[in-house]
Amino acid sequence: MKKTLFSLFMLAGVMEMMAVSITSPNGALLLNVNVNAQGTPEYSLDYKGKPIVKDSKLGIMTQELPLTEGFHIVSTDTLSVDRTWEPVWGEYSEVRDHFNELAVKLAAENPQRELTIRFRVFDDGLGFRYELPVQDGPNYLTVTDELTEFNYTDNHKLFAIPGDYDTDEYLWSETTFEELPEAMASYARHSEAQRVDGLTVQTPLLLKTKDGVYVNAHEAALIGYPAMLLDVDPQTYSMKSHLVPDRLGVSAYLQMPFNTPWRTLIVSDDARDILASQLILNLNEPSKIEDTSWIKPMKFVGVWWEMFTGNQKTWAYSDDHLAKPGVTDYTKLTPNGRHPANTENVKRYIDFAAANGIDGVLVEGWNEGWEDWASYRKNRQFLFDKPYPDFDLPYLRDYAAEKGVKLIMHHETAANAADYALQLDRAFQFMKDNNYDAVKTGYVGAIIPRSEHHTSQWMVDHARDVAERAAEYQIMVDSHEAPRPTGLCRTYPNWLAQESARGGEFESMGGNPPSHTCILPFTRLKGGPMDYTPGLFETRLSYYGEGKTGQAGTTLARQLALYLTMPSPMQMACDLPENYERFPDAFQFIKDVPVDWSDSKYLEAEPNQYITVARRDKHSDDWYVGAITDDKARTATIDLSFLPRGGKYEATIYEDAPGADWKSNPQAYRIRTVKVKPGQKLKQPLAPGGGAAIRIQRVS
Ligand code: NOJ
Ligand code: CA
Repeated sequence: MKKTLFSLFMLAGVMEMMAVSITSPNGALLLNVNVNAQGTPEYSLDYKGKPIVKDSKLGIMTQELPLTEGFHIVSTDTLSVDRTWEPVWGEYSEVRDHFNELAVKLAAENPQRELTIRFRVFDDGLGFRYELPVQDGPNYLTVTDELTEFNYTDNHKLFAIPGDYDTDEYLWSETTFEELPEAMASYARHSEAQRVDGLTVQTPLLLKTKDGVYVNAHEAALIGYPAMLLDVDPQTYSMKSHLVPDRLGVSAYLQMPFNTPWRTLIVSDDARDILASQLILNLNEPSKIEDTSWIKPMKFVGVWWEMFTGNQKTWAYSDDHLAKPGVTDYTKLTPNGRHPANTENVKRYIDFAAANGIDGVLVEGWNEGWEDWASYRKNRQFLFDKPYPDFDLPYLRDYAAEKGVKLIMHHETAANAADYALQLDRAFQFMKDNNYDAVKTGYVGAIIPRSEHHTSQWMVDHARDVAERAAEYQIMVDSHEAPRPTGLCRTYPNWLAQESARGGEFESMGGNPPSHTCILPFTRLKGGPMDYTPGLFETRLSYYGEGKTGQAGTTLARQLALYLTMPSPMQMACDLPENYERFPDAFQFIKDVPVDWSDSKYLEAEPNQYITVARRDKHSDDWYVGAITDDKARTATIDLSFLPRGGKYEATIYEDAPGADWKSNPQAYRIRTVKVKPGQKLKQPLAPGGGAAIRIQRVS
């Protein structure tokens, strides 16, 4: 270890260590840690010689022990690590984990208490966590708040969504510290969610300084602890951790020894580095699953979009069930005739998947309990081993197997997570008995009967527990409305995807502007892949439940690019088979595009505006490029330096046709094939709200 990396300063005349600093391996980031006059630990972070975070306090408020003041530094430990690991799936086949670490051991008397704060400084940012060792005093702590501050230096630009204990399905604001109050006040309140009173935002949050430094603030390895929001002071440009409480106001119940999640700051003056950063994954533990051979990235279609758009199809089998709440025998109910999870229709999707090489078919609305799901009255229980009378599971199971297609199970809990946890083993066994190996879970609504928030400690534990227990059954998980991801997919690689943001379904509920998918990769996706549901070809939609129509914020070609810019190992082709059949040449791209990569190169990026990325297929030498823009037309420059020299290449370009525009001409696309060379710079026009998707194959 190089001595110069670490310096211990002794304050004149004081025999205790008061300040410690370390740098990132490349020296660009400098972390300082000290203990102030009140004995409160503080840190600051400089990037390329300029402060990013000014002195910011650290500590945890508990009912039993004051873990915020009275401390002195007992000792410090340093460590340099440079290692690589191989993800089961993802954007890269190998990830470098390279950091300098500083562990600051703190102690205080009256009452006796100890706390270690561990910092890791990477070339692309900082992570730190609190480690609570077994104490001489109480070993169960009731956490009421966390002191962690992030004091920024100026009126930075912020990309933010409002603080909310229950949902993150919001559009993003591009604002500043000083304008944040106005931006946050403009959001409507969700009826079933608890917005935080006061000025609070969610993580992952993105900041941009006037000097052009980007900072992504989030957390890693969220286990056994509530999610973190951030309270913002728009005048002093400071932020403070705000832990999601339970309904009694308690944030966490801890037993020592305990390590909190890592608080993370990804920092760079190049926006592309924020997208490429693997810092959050690096701060998570390696896979707990030894044999990962059964974990298979996949594409899927689903009996799903029919319920959002079109002619008011329903998840429920019957309409008269509400009027007969006591009836438990579903065969006694009148079918409503608008229930797409029926044998014939599912068979149609299986045929479509088989004919097009799509791995899976998700079926929503297959099981008992949907009759009042959206009203949250819960006089119906969701049962996860009881198919509706018109869903012939044994037949479909065998039919899918014969066609080489996997059925994907859906478990909507309507937020009754406690009941779901009780049914879980039975539900997973039922899946295995019927040849399912992937589940999409859902938690729409308020959490009952425990009245927990969606991102409280109990729900964080629940979501992780579902992934862990699913692994015991060799089941892959895609969770919706679960706490936003923090890189746990490294530890539980069967947790392929999550929603945890405003997804593509909102195209039928108000719309997503083109900028939305230009900010998600900088924010939500840093925690892990998103089940965004790309692949929308019919962009004129009749809205969910309203009878209104709207225009999705996208061109058709852009939807193809999303397979690259929103990478996920569990990737949907969201539209109806009949819409894909109308555009078979464009659908070819969805058939071809991989969902697992050996390398990724972010070529151009600016949050909320544009992203251009190239990825190499994990299982072939093919490269794919995706480029998207916001509502402005743009010419992407695609530098093909990533192609190995010496080869000849052919690019198949799926692009917006001249005159395409998301509002007025979204389905105008064209496909052309051109010869390309390594090092060539392709100029690729993108329409307003548009995009381009390219497959590059070596031809000799
Ligand atoms: C919300 C989910 O995001 C969506 O994908 C699902 O279809 C509905 N809940 C019903 O479970
Ligand atoms: Ca959702």
